[in-house]
Amino acid sequence: MPNNTAQLTIDNITYQLPIVESTAGERAIDIRGLLRETGFITLDSGFMNTGSCLSQITFLDGEKGILKYRGYDIAVLAEKCSFVEVAYLLLTGELPNQSELEQFQHDMTRYSLIHEDMIHFFDHFPPKAAPMSILSSMIGTLHDFYPEMDLDQDPYGGITTTTARLLSKARTIAAFSYKKNMGHPLVYPRGDIGYCANFLHMMFDRPNLPYELNPVLVSALNKLLILHADHEQNCSTSTVRLVGSAGVRLYPSISAGVSALWGPLHGGANAAVMKMLERILADGKDYEKYISMAKDPNSGYRLTGFGHRVYKTYDPRATIIKKTCHEVLNTSKISDPLLEVALKLEELVSNDEYFIERNLYPNVDFYSGIIYRAMGIPTNMFTVMFALGRLPGWIAHWQEMNQDKDSSRIGRPRQVYNGIVERPFKEIVDRY
Ligand code: ACO
Repeated sequence: MPNNTAQLTIDNITYQLPIVESTAGERAIDIRGLLRETGFITLDSGFMNTGSCLSQITFLDGEKGILKYRGYDIAVLAEKCSFVEVAYLLLTGELPNQSELEQFQHDMTRYSLIHEDMIHFFDHFPPKAAPMSILSSMIGTLHDFYPEMDLDQDPYGGITTTTARLLSKARTIAAFSYKKNMGHPLVYPRGDIGYCANFLHMMFDRPNLPYELNPVLVSALNKLLILHADHEQNCSTSTVRLVGSAGVRLYPSISAGVSALWGPLHGGANAAVMKMLERILADGKDYEKYISMAKDPNSGYRLTGFGHRVYKTYDPRATIIKKTCHEVLNTSKISDPLLEVALKLEELVSNDEYFIERNLYPNVDFYSGIIYRAMGIPTNMFTVMFALGRLPGWIAHWQEMNQDKDSSRIGRPRQVYNGIVERPFKEIVDRY
């Protein structure tokens, strides 16, 4: 019997299925030949146990709480790197040297403006348009304004003009959507400051009220974007890969990823957490009421910011974000009652059997909103912030998918049909 195979017995016939081993030691049963050999498909709604591709970008161990980008631990990257360096790492597989970093930063500055005709679009969204719908539409539209270059026209192995444009212009689009929403004049990016500082400048600088950059906030934003930069095959990344697998170019594929991220069970959770904390505060801090509701299977209510499909221990990103949250509030001398509510809620939940049994810990979204509030970013922009952070990951996965013959096959899941198989047709007069 061959060593590296699993056996599957159906109707007394045993089939050998190859076992694929990951570089980190995880093993997977390769079912790609199953249909041809056996006539059976597998059923796995929600993709609870299905690997959709081989990938070299991010390693995640949900049992041990490990997250690594290209082999580097997330805590080290968040401590030592800029978001732009981490974006370079995700896209190319290597951290940049000094000249590569300077070139990349130069490109980010060079491509940071958006075509003036695109600016008119902002005037025609309704005044209270959701920033995520603006971001998704505008990113899709980039395709019509800027030619998308092929990966083989690639100056540094992983970064094309197309990629640098997207990373840089998405930040400008996000800040412009805020300015339009506020009715403020647009503030254009500066050439002399970094990615995160420039974002805060474009958001908050005003002609009559210059914005003073605060290094603590710039550093916190940098960390938040790094911590969100990739998370292997989550809902939005899988969307980018699936849409891209139909041969769709980068910008529209990323636009689809932005829409997927918007959902409250995914990136929309950071805004939902703030609403939940505000509600608990307004309700006289009646924690037990909300915890009981979350435990009642008939209420349909969940404590947002807790639980994760993959992490069955504390989310390593949440550990760093919680620490950064304290740093930001302490150094900025801001006191936010929502932090107190969040800390108390976490304490109560961490001692509650229901949550312990189900391994429900704070996730990346639980504390991030409190930092964004301290920066002055409104709640309806929180998921946009997540999207800016996730961009390098989405792009890296789109590129990897396009370069790998196997995973660039069009994504096309199967189904088990459970509807009516055959019905006699009735003319309209005989239907009821
Ligand atoms: N509050 C209360 N109970 C919960 C919560 C929660 N936040 N999350 C899961 N549970 C319970 C479920 O009711 C279920 O209980 P049961 O076994 O008695 O039926 C059990 O825990 C397992 O939950 P599932 O929904 O099966 O877990 P799944 O992996 O499908 O969902 C998810 C993960 C969507 C993140 C879920 O935990 C959730 O809804 N959390 C709140 C929303 C949230 O914070 N989302 C952000 C996730 S991080 C990100 O995407 C960036």
